[in-house]
Amino acid sequence: MPESFFVLSKDHLEIAKDEIIAIAKTYDRFAKSKSFSNLVIIQSKINCDKIAQRATFVKISGQILRKMSGLFLGEDNFEVLKNAKTFACRIINLSSKQFEIPELESSMGDMISKLSQAQVDLKNPDIIIYLIFTNQENFFGFSRPDELPKRPKKVRKHPHELDWKLARVMINLIGLKEGETVCDPFCGTGTTLLEAESMGIKAIGVDFDEKMYEISKENLKANGFKSKVSKADFSEFTKMQDKFDAIVTDLPYGIASKASEDPQELIKKFVSMLPRRKKIAIMCKKGFEKKLNMNPSKTYDIYRHKSLTRTILIK
Ligand SMILES: C[S@@+](CC[C@H](N)C(=O)[O-])C[C@H]1O[C@@H](n2cnc3c(N)ncnc32)[C@H](O)[C@@H]1O
Repeated sequence: MPESFFVLSKDHLEIAKDEIIAIAKTYDRFAKSKSFSNLVIIQSKINCDKIAQRATFVKISGQILRKMSGLFLGEDNFEVLKNAKTFACRIINLSSKQFEIPELESSMGDMISKLSQAQVDLKNPDIIIYLIFTNQENFFGFSRPDELPKRPKKVRKHPHELDWKLARVMINLIGLKEGETVCDPFCGTGTTLLEAESMGIKAIGVDFDEKMYEISKENLKANGFKSKVSKADFSEFTKMQDKFDAIVTDLPYGIASKASEDPQELIKKFVSMLPRRKKIAIMCKKGFEKKLNMNPSKTYDIYRHKSLTRTILIK
């Protein structure tokens, strides 16, 4: 079974790892994973680019080369270099050992150029060969430069909008696939809707505030997206239950955003209306979740500043 590697940024590491695993399992429920520090290895029939293009916190990704001989590539691995005219070598050291990285990269490059037709090109290589060190295992991998997925535009912003990365990670953690529909009943500027549509997931938004409703619509229009937004109280979502597969939302905190009532009461009311058989990811101010009868399968705390930590609840 092919193996892929994902080196993650260290911000929000737990959620970043879970996101990779959740995406792999969305497309292949038999996918297996292991992780070392900020490296996740996925064994699955899913192509590594498919996971990397959806994931939020990936810095480097590629495919693992299966056979190794000693420190350098075994002959079989030169297959990957067959159609490459140029290559570069990169060392990723996630171990506690110290290495002379530039020297090691350059001797790896010399060795490979002697054994293959490909030439070193550090600026624009056809292929990058990685040697990844961890305290437990070392890996050889490779990647071919790929265009980064296009980010949706946000033509109108608002101070209380959600960081797109957190909206995206919530969508991915609950395992939504292309063609499914997500509902955000507190959609604000439409961050969830934009992230969903940029991944091929349909979206429905609701916001009671005229201004936020207009901002959401403008942001969707600027991207040519088709998600529908309603100006209504969040409870409107109970009338659309047959139109969506999941709820992903960021509740009012009672700090910057408007709320129709006390945010703690509002969240209680909202949770009591949640559908039973749908995938749910909600974000609220840490502490609010204690009074809820929600039994999340997983929670993540996201520190923002000293008076605001947010909690993501996954069900
Ligand atoms: C924290 S903000 C959501 C921000 C949004 N995720 C974004 O990225 O812009 C909460 C939103 O809930 C909306 N809201 C508050 N009370 C509401 C209610 N009763 N029904 C619908 N929306 C409500 C506010 O207008 C605000 O836009």
